[in-house]
Amino acid sequence: MGEIFVSVLVFFLTLLWYISLKKNKKEAIKNGTKLPPGSLGWPYIGETLQLYSQDPESFFATKQKRYGEIFKTHILGCPCVMLASPEAARFVLMTQAHLFKPTYPKSKELLIGPSALFFHQGDYHCRLRKLVQNSLSLDAIRTLVPDIDSVTASALDSWANSVLISTFHEMKKISFEVGILTIFGHLEATYKEELKNNYSILDAGYNSFPTNIPGTPYKKALSARKRLSKILGDIIHERREKRLGKKDLLGSLLNSIDDEGEVKISDAQIADNIIGVLFAAQDTTASVMTWIVKYLHDQPKLLQSVKEEQEEIKKINCENNQELNWVQTRNMPMSYKVILESLRMASIISFTFREAVADVEYKGYLIPKGWKVMPLFRNIHHSPEYFPNPHNFDPSRFEVARKPNTFMPFGSGVHACPGNELAKLEMLIMIHHLVTKFRWELVGTQNRVQHSPFPVPLQGLPARFWKIGH
Ligand code: HEM
Ligand SMILES: *[C@@H]1O[C@H](CO)[C@@H](O)[C@H](O)[C@H]1NC(C)=O
Ligand SMILES: *[C@@H]1O[C@H](CO)[C@@H](O)[C@H](O)[C@H]1NC(C)=O
Repeated sequence: MGEIFVSVLVFFLTLLWYISLKKNKKEAIKNGTKLPPGSLGWPYIGETLQLYSQDPESFFATKQKRYGEIFKTHILGCPCVMLASPEAARFVLMTQAHLFKPTYPKSKELLIGPSALFFHQGDYHCRLRKLVQNSLSLDAIRTLVPDIDSVTASALDSWANSVLISTFHEMKKISFEVGILTIFGHLEATYKEELKNNYSILDAGYNSFPTNIPGTPYKKALSARKRLSKILGDIIHERREKRLGKKDLLGSLLNSIDDEGEVKISDAQIADNIIGVLFAAQDTTASVMTWIVKYLHDQPKLLQSVKEEQEEIKKINCENNQELNWVQTRNMPMSYKVILESLRMASIISFTFREAVADVEYKGYLIPKGWKVMPLFRNIHHSPEYFPNPHNFDPSRFEVARKPNTFMPFGSGVHACPGNELAKLEMLIMIHHLVTKFRWELVGTQNRVQHSPFPVPLQGLPARFWKIGH
C-alpha cells in the first residue's frame, strides 16, 4: 500500500517536473534571450530543502561557483534569479529599480501592516520615505544623543556581575528603546510598557508558520497587532489634542500635508509605518551589536586600540564633568571602522527580494515577469575580488575607498536604509560604554550561527560581563 502511494507520488512529481521544464523552455526562447543557468530543482519544493538544510551561505556560494554571477533557482514555490555581482545589484536596486518591486509574503505584510513603506513602490513610497528620512536625518538624530547615551548606559549597567545573559536578547532591549525614542520622543511609561509587551508577541510570531488556528504564535501575533493599532490610535489622538509640533517620526507623519495643503496620511497608514520602522530597526541593529561584542572579544589587540580611542574621550568627559556628545561620536575613527567591518563580516541582511514587473533583459539573460530577483549582498561582501582575505576581520580595509556597489550593508537605491546613520550612532555609543566600563567572557560554543532570521551567534551569544574599576 505504502509503496504504491510512493510510486504514484513519484510519478506525479516527475510529470510536474517535466511540465515545468517544458514551460521554462518556452520562456527561454522568448525574444532570443535565454534564462540564466542553474537548476530549478523539483517543482514546488524547488531547492527550498537544500537552502534550509545547508546554511544559506554555502548554498549560495556553491551555486555561484558553479554558475557564476547570475543563476536561477526555485525557492518556496517561486522561480527566482539570484544575482551576485555589484553591477547586477546596481541594475536591480538603482538604475532599473522601477522594473523590480518589493515583494514579501502576505502573511508578513499583515503582521507589520500593509501600508508600511517598504512594501511599496512609486508615489506613495516616495512620499512616506521623505517623511521617514526627515526624522532620521543627521540633524534629527544628533538631538537624540543624550537619550541614546543614557538608555545604553543603563542597559549595560544592568548586565554587570549578572548571571549569564543572551547578548542578542539584551541588545534587542536597547534597539527597541532607541526605536521608541526616534518615533515618539519621550513616551509615557504606561504606553511604552503596553507597546513593548504587545510588540514582543508580534515579534515572536513573525517567523512562525502563518495560520489562523487559535493559540498558534502567528495567530497570537495577529491579535497583538490589533492591540498595537489601538494603542497607537490612542497615542495619535492624544498628540493631536495637545497639538505638539514635535520633530520625531510621529510628529513628521502627523504634520505631513500635500501640495493642496491637505493631510493625506490616514491613522492606519501612520500605525503601519510606525510598526514598520520599529521592525526594521530592532533585530537588525541588535544583531550587528551582538557581532561587535564577539569580534572585539576574539581580537584582544583590536579591542585594545578601540579601548584607547574611547578611554581618551571618557577622560575628557570626566575632567569636564560632561556626557558623551554628538561631535565626539563623529570622531571615533577606529570604532567606526570596526562597525563597518562588522557590517561586512556579519552581512546580517544577506540578500533582499524583488519581483520583476515586466520581462527584463540583463546581459543577454531573460528575467521573466513575475520571477523573484535576489541581489546577494553577502556573496559580494565575502568575495575575495572586492575584499581580499574576506574571512579575516580587518577594519583597516576601510581606510581605502571601496569600489562602487561592493559594500551594501544598508542596501542601495530607492529602498536603501534610511536608518543607517541612526544605527551607526547607536553602535558607536554602545561601543563607548562597552569598552570603557566592562570586560566580558563568552560562554559555550561560539562559532556556530543561528538564523533568527538574521544570522547571530548561537543562542544569541551567551556571555558574562563585569564592571572594571577606574
Ligand atoms: C545595523 C542596522 C540596520 C541594517 C543592517 C539595515 C539594513 C537595511 C537594508 C539592507 C534595507 C534595504 C532592504 C531592501 O532593499 O530590500 C533597509 C531598509 C530600511 N531600514 Fe534599515 N537597517 C538597519 C537599521 C535600521 C534602523 C535603525 C531603522 C530605523 C530607525 C531602519 C529603517 C529602515 C526602513 C524604514 C527601511 C525601508 C526603506 C524603504 O523601503 O524605502 N533600519 N535596512
Ligand atoms: C497590550 O495592549 C493592551 C491594550 O490594547 C493592554 O491592555 C495590554 O496590557 C498589552 N499587553 C499585552 C501583553 O497584551
Ligand atoms: C523583446 O524585443 C522587443 C523588440 O525587439 C523589445 O522592445 C523588448 O524590450 C524585448 N524584451 C526583452 C525582455 O528583452
